[in-house]
Amino acid sequence: MRSGTIPLFPEAASTMASRVDGLYFFLVGLTAFFTILIAVLIAVFMVKYKRRTPNEIGARIHGAMALEIIWSVIPLLICFGIFAWATDIFLAMSRPPAETMNVYVVGKQWMWKFQHLDGQREINELHVPVGRPVKLIMTSEDVIHDVSVPAFRVKADVIPGRYSHLWFEATKAGEYHLFCAEYCGTRHSGMVGRVVVMEPDDYQAWLAGGVQEGSLASSGGKLFQDLACNTCHRPDAQGRGPVLQNLFGKQVSLESGETVVVDEAYIRESILMPRTKVTAGFQPIMPTFQGLVSEEGLLELIEYVKSLKTDSQVQAVRPNTGGPAANENTPAQTPPSRN
Ligand code: CUA
Repeated sequence: MRSGTIPLFPEAASTMASRVDGLYFFLVGLTAFFTILIAVLIAVFMVKYKRRTPNEIGARIHGAMALEIIWSVIPLLICFGIFAWATDIFLAMSRPPAETMNVYVVGKQWMWKFQHLDGQREINELHVPVGRPVKLIMTSEDVIHDVSVPAFRVKADVIPGRYSHLWFEATKAGEYHLFCAEYCGTRHSGMVGRVVVMEPDDYQAWLAGGVQEGSLASSGGKLFQDLACNTCHRPDAQGRGPVLQNLFGKQVSLESGETVVVDEAYIRESILMPRTKVTAGFQPIMPTFQGLVSEEGLLELIEYVKSLKTDSQVQAVRPNTGGPAANENTPAQTPPSRN
């Protein structure tokens, strides 16, 4: 919706856009309706009930129960309606579909770094295919940032030390603005990028044209060896640390008696602050890797742990840490970029 060169309203380019807009226009319409209604009534009553003689006294009103009930119940029902409608949209936005294409996002003063699962890295530019749900798993290297793509009607904070999520499914090929929507320092206004939505064929061509650095998981596997993680985390349960195979998504018991689900945040915490949540039956002997692993390195290690499905997979990954073929056989990793 453009008027000349001044965009009055962002383009609608995701499955969520029309739903958000529907609610938005309803709220604007509702507000306009009552604003106009009240303004008109004020004007009408001013004329109708104006003082006609200098010593005229207003009539007393001794309550009007019916009126009170009407103007309490109707707004209440409208508010409940808005609540239910908005909650429905909120839940749809916060629950990504089961099958998503995952992309990692690292924000820093003042740029956006995107990492695709099969190795492509981008700065301030994100290429995605049309018609496929994309989940962004986001963190920050320094302060709080916020990813906002108006054309998709999505926005979420990007917080240091945590992984936040955001998902969208683009419906139209094209280029869309991506903004940082949280004041993050002097160059905040320059922390912008674009999302390039491509037809599936064009996207495949773009993927194929990328630098072959190997998948995130295979880079993670290499880092896992470089940092000597493999000396303690062994697949044969003989190591001093827990076995990592088939661990992602599972619930584990801790020394403290609590349980925790192994997700991105838990793996990250275990690398940086290994003594916070020690797995039951293990000693708190793991050193911290704070300062030794970058945010990108953490993402690679997380993808590596996610890719560890069975013992045979490890054997496949180990000798061939350089190429994307390393975890070709992991069902969850095909087609590329899918998790
Ligand atoms: Cu990053 Cu504002």
